[in-house]
Amino acid sequence: MTKTFWQTLPRPLLGLAPMDGVTDHPCRHIQKKYGRPGLIYTEFVAVERLAIGDWALLKDFRYDESQRPVIAQIYGHIPSLFPPMVVMLCELGFDGIDINMGCPAASVVHRGSGAGLIRTPDVAQEVVRAAKRGVEMWLNGASLRDLPKMPRRLLIEAEAQRNALPPAYQTRRPIPVSVKTRIGYEAPQVSEWIPRLLESEPAAIAIHGRTLHQRYGGNADWEEIGQAAELARGSHTLILGNGDVRSYEDALNRIATYNVDGALIGRGSNGNPFVFQPEHIRDNADRYCLLRIALEHAKLYEETISRDRPISFLSMRKHLGWYARNIPGASALRRALVQTWNAAEVAAILDDYFAHRRIFEKTLEMS
Ligand SMILES: Cc1cc2nc3c(=O)[nH]c(=O)nc-3n(C[C@H](O)[C@H](O)[C@H](O)COP(=O)(O)O)c2cc1C
Repeated sequence: MTKTFWQTLPRPLLGLAPMDGVTDHPCRHIQKKYGRPGLIYTEFVAVERLAIGDWALLKDFRYDESQRPVIAQIYGHIPSLFPPMVVMLCELGFDGIDINMGCPAASVVHRGSGAGLIRTPDVAQEVVRAAKRGVEMWLNGASLRDLPKMPRRLLIEAEAQRNALPPAYQTRRPIPVSVKTRIGYEAPQVSEWIPRLLESEPAAIAIHGRTLHQRYGGNADWEEIGQAAELARGSHTLILGNGDVRSYEDALNRIATYNVDGALIGRGSNGNPFVFQPEHIRDNADRYCLLRIALEHAKLYEETISRDRPISFLSMRKHLGWYARNIPGASALRRALVQTWNAAEVAAILDDYFAHRRIFEKTLEMS
């Protein structure tokens, strides 16, 4: 069996969990640069979008080389739509493909996708097998030009993205298919759900320790995650735990306690890439360091996303709010930052903030 990053990455595995509307290309770049999580997932993308020829699809699959290994996350419930999407993702140079079986949004679940698949394990298995068939098709020579209904504009952009890849990533190699899910639908059902998923032999299963009904309420149940790890023992599938991890040490502790192969951190990384780093590195970062990172993030956001559409800077504002925490004058600073429209405005506000801090600290020194 050819080894993939799942086997070669240093243990324990620690990754940035996918978060729709949060972990876009610039966010992932910043998280990787300062936190160095071992794994990175894109936000989830509906497989139907390729089938309907949505030319804007590629925006969500942008990444840069610093983010590797980078996993494309997709979702859907119609197995036949998966192989073409997977061929495209292999052509785009992704290191792995992940299938979302955990999203609790009503619009997704009602169609039978996301966490809806927990109720239809036969379909879930078919979906994993169909994704693997896509990888096989690619290994056997399928390319972007073989994709049905691929609109010309999408084809040209995808080919340009593929041609810009380093040669190693244009080479055909087995791309692992993994799953991210929850511990159950209404109540925990790990003992029925996980064995069914394991039958389709995904490379890894990341499990968020909440049911669909809990959404994000209550606490993640790591005992259930531990049970899933027990069920997977002896298989080739790795188990990653997810839910409520607040620091590197917390992740290590849970990984050891529940005997899982790794963990994903989602909300704990918001405005806080150092969450993936051990305490001595976190402590070396000065208290204003996150503000400098905020500005770098805003500039990258503008370069890659909002230059031609200033309105889309709105989505950067929440990150700015997250970065401005646990420092003097944080709430006034946050109020100002979340009204900005571009990186220049962010820079001006931060200059002003630092100037006032300097005057304030000088006054303290003199008194
Ligand atoms: C805003 C937001 C968006 C999310 N989007 C996705 C997604 O696109 N795909 C996915 O698998 N999970 C998604 N999740 C779930 C997270 O990946 C993760 O499972 C969950 O937040 C629990 O982990 P945490 O406690 O570390 O945040 C999202 C969560 C949040 C808060």
